[in-house]
Amino acid sequence: MSLSIPAPLEAELDELVTRYPQKRSASLMFLHTLQEHFGYVSPEAVEWTAAKLGLAPINVFELVTFYPMFRQEPLGKTHIKVCRTLSCALAGASDLRKHFCEKLGLDAKAHVPQTTPDGNFTVEFVECLAACGSAPVVLVNDTLCEKVDASKADSILAEGKSGGAQLRAAGTLSK
Ligand code: FES
Repeated sequence: MSLSIPAPLEAELDELVTRYPQKRSASLMFLHTLQEHFGYVSPEAVEWTAAKLGLAPINVFELVTFYPMFRQEPLGKTHIKVCRTLSCALAGASDLRKHFCEKLGLDAKAHVPQTTPDGNFTVEFVECLAACGSAPVVLVNDTLCEKVDASKADSILAEGKSGGAQLRAAGTLSK
C-alpha cells in the first residue's frame, strides 16, 4: 500500500531536504515529521522516505528500530505514560501501571507499550518525566499528572473514555 501524503506536507519535506548538504541527512527529520502527522512510522512511510531520499528502505528502517522515539504501531487516542524512574518507582509506579492495565484489560506483566483493541488507550512505562517531587507522575497525551493515586487514575480513564475534552478544563489532571 502506498502512502498518501498531503501536498503541503510533501512540500514541507521537500523544503527540508534543501537544508542539508546530503539528502540522506534529512532522514531523521523526515521520520519525525511523518510520525507527527500519522501518529507512527508505517512500513509505507519507511519506503516513501527511502525513495524520496535515494536510500534503500533498510537504511531508513534501521533508524526506526534504533531510536526509541519512533513508533511502528499507531497509538491509542489517550496515551498514558507512567514514569518508572526512582522517585516514581518508590511511590508506587508499578502498582499504578498495573492498575491502568487491569482496568483496561491489558497484560500488566508485559513490558512493551500496549494499546486497547478499540484504539482508545495506550499504556507504557517511560523514564523520568522531570517532576520527581510529585511522584508518582503520569503524562496523559500532553498533560502532566502529578501524585497520581488509584482514584486519579480512574478519573484519567473516565476522561479518556469521554474523549478527554474536560481533562484540563476540570483540572482533573493538573494537581
Ligand atoms: S522519577 Fe518520575 S518524574 Fe522523575
